[in-house]
Amino acid sequence: METNRRITRSGLCLMVVMLAVLTAPITTQKPALDDFSVSVPDAPITAWSGSSVSLPCELSPLFNAEPLEVRWYRSENSYSPALLYKDHKIQETPVDPRYRGRVSLTGGMERGNVSLTLEKVTLEDRGEYVCRVSSEQWFDKASVFLTVKVLGGIPVLSVAEARGGGGQVNVTCLSEGWSPQPKLIWTNKEGTEIRNEQEVLNTSDPLGLVSVSSWLLNAPSYSDWLACIVSLSEEAKREGRILPHTAVPVVSKEAFIVTLILLALSLVIICALCSVILWKRRGSMWSSSRKSRNRSDQTELGQRPAETKNLIEGAEHTMPRPTKQRAAGKEINLGVT
Ligand SMILES: *[C@@H]1O[C@H](CO)[C@@H](O)[C@H](O)[C@H]1NC(C)=O
Ligand SMILES: *[C@@H]1O[C@H](CO)[C@@H](O)[C@H](O)[C@H]1NC(C)=O
Ligand SMILES: *[C@@H]1O[C@H](CO)[C@@H](O)[C@H](O)[C@H]1NC(C)=O
Repeated sequence: METNRRITRSGLCLMVVMLAVLTAPITTQKPALDDFSVSVPDAPITAWSGSSVSLPCELSPLFNAEPLEVRWYRSENSYSPALLYKDHKIQETPVDPRYRGRVSLTGGMERGNVSLTLEKVTLEDRGEYVCRVSSEQWFDKASVFLTVKVLGGIPVLSVAEARGGGGQVNVTCLSEGWSPQPKLIWTNKEGTEIRNEQEVLNTSDPLGLVSVSSWLLNAPSYSDWLACIVSLSEEAKREGRILPHTAVPVVSKEAFIVTLILLALSLVIICALCSVILWKRRGSMWSSSRKSRNRSDQTELGQRPAETKNLIEGAEHTMPRPTKQRAAGKEINLGVT
């Protein structure tokens, strides 16, 4: 009983001490309105385009920032800030219209956290932001750099014959629409990086999106693909693959021979068809001209369709058909006369 109560009492003491320690910085710190600083991280803050981000900024020492003025602005634009907190509330003017409805101070100002929350981040939001906190007697400011990430397109690879020959092919990789500058590497089928002495070209469009391209000379191959990997980080990467050979099969002799044989075969077939058609045509023309001499009342009107039809249909129909058609031609003639 006795020991039990003692334990409870000491536990209570410990809790009181812990509470005192935990609340000490807030309760014992008097608002130091004439001597404080702001602290921000050194490293840039990165955010995906379209996401929300917090740009950290804290008072040091930590104390209630509610009586102070907090101004977040782009370094070049302090008169039209992204956010202005004054007279205990966020002001509607003067503020940069590009940030309207997207900014807030949600970190807990009463605890000295004046971090800026920015929603629906766009590429234009990247750059330097100044966190400026002021009292009537004092101010301090510090800047945070925001980097906006955009995942670019899947790398597009193409193969051309290398200038100067040498039996090699020139493989080109192009990937567009990145932010910030991505890294480009080539790997083989096994995933081993291929060292490439050619410089990676970077071009930037008016929006600030970066395109990267690179080329590589490689021995042609029909089985070992090459990969071009463009990445911002280990998690944010895109890969394109290609079999490094040109449309003209210079390497595979088998493929070349097969193509030749197919070409020769189709030539033979075409020739055979041509001669059959020509032979048939000559035959039918000869027979019809002989017969038309017999029947001089024959006109072109009835003759022509018969001829065309004969060419299309089988050889066994060739002989009986003209008589039928001629009969029809005669009927038409009879009808006209
Ligand atoms: C300050 O507030 C932001 C949210 O706006 C939060 O991400 C950050 O962790 C807070 N900092 C501290 C030290 O609590
Ligand atoms: C390879 O192709 C690129 C363009 O895609 C070209 O700039 C380069 O000169 C070519 N190199 C050779 C050796 O053909
Ligand atoms: C492209 O960017 C990379 C990485 O930043 C750099 O190493 C390379 O020199 C740049 N190339 C050009 C042509 O600017």
